[in-house]
Amino acid sequence: MTGEQVALAETVRNSGGSGLGRTASVSSAIAAALMTADPQAKVMATRGIARDWRLGRLSFTFARSMPVRPARPAEPVLLPPAQMPRRGKGGSERNRIAMWHSLAHIEYVAIDLALDMAGRFGAAMGEEFVSDFLSVAADEAMHFALLDRKLRLMGSHYGALPAHSGLWETAERTAHDVAARLAIVPMVLEARGLDVTPPMIARVRSQGDENGARILTRILDDEIRHVGFGTKHFVARCRDERISPQKRWKSLLKTYFRGGLKGPFNDSARLAAGLSQDFYAGLAS
Ligand SMILES: [Fe+2]
Ligand SMILES: [Fe+2]
Repeated sequence: MTGEQVALAETVRNSGGSGLGRTASVSSAIAAALMTADPQAKVMATRGIARDWRLGRLSFTFARSMPVRPARPAEPVLLPPAQMPRRGKGGSERNRIAMWHSLAHIEYVAIDLALDMAGRFGAAMGEEFVSDFLSVAADEAMHFALLDRKLRLMGSHYGALPAHSGLWETAERTAHDVAARLAIVPMVLEARGLDVTPPMIARVRSQGDENGARILTRILDDEIRHVGFGTKHFVARCRDERISPQKRWKSLLKTYFRGGLKGPFNDSARLAAGLSQDFYAGLAS
């Protein structure tokens, strides 16, 4: 092991890896992973938590509160969306790197979004909810790792370009309400991924990048499951409260997602995730 790997292993142990034993609290492990800025260390910590939870090594206890904002690495520099450099859709090396970099950033933030979902709302929502969103977090960590490796094969890496600063804002706005968080993060933002990924796969394949197309196909398959978990827990919560899930979702969108939905929609992938058209039909701006 190099010095760096030893340090990494240490971080994983300190943030919920197998060294903590049976009594370690799932919320402490999650909070530690959220406060891990280094991308590789965050990936390892997150996958370690998901594994330890599956193996019963973490207790269902929530004494530790989640940070308002997770730690961020020094790079990428985060810019407001309006200040992000424009990037074309053409197949130039520069455009391609910019595309993979922006996807890597989305997956990096997605790790934190899934960890925060489990750690912030797990106590109220129960063990199945924690299991579902820790498995999402582990998927996001794998997606990030695949994309960072892709960037490295192209001579770049995550952090080399500026990235969008807006992705965590939704989490802050919905930190007080699990229904709002579920309505927006999995059921709007991740669902949008289901719409835009198939044309992206076709474009990448037409540029001769079969490896890139395979990575995106794997991500798409996993994201259907993520939207499915979000929808399942949202619908169950609405049923408990005897509210129509569709009506509740639409009213939460008015409050927390003023941008309006964009089509066209991938109806079949959305339906596979339980997000039927009666949620979103007629809402596209
Ligand atoms: Fe993902
Ligand atoms: Fe996801």
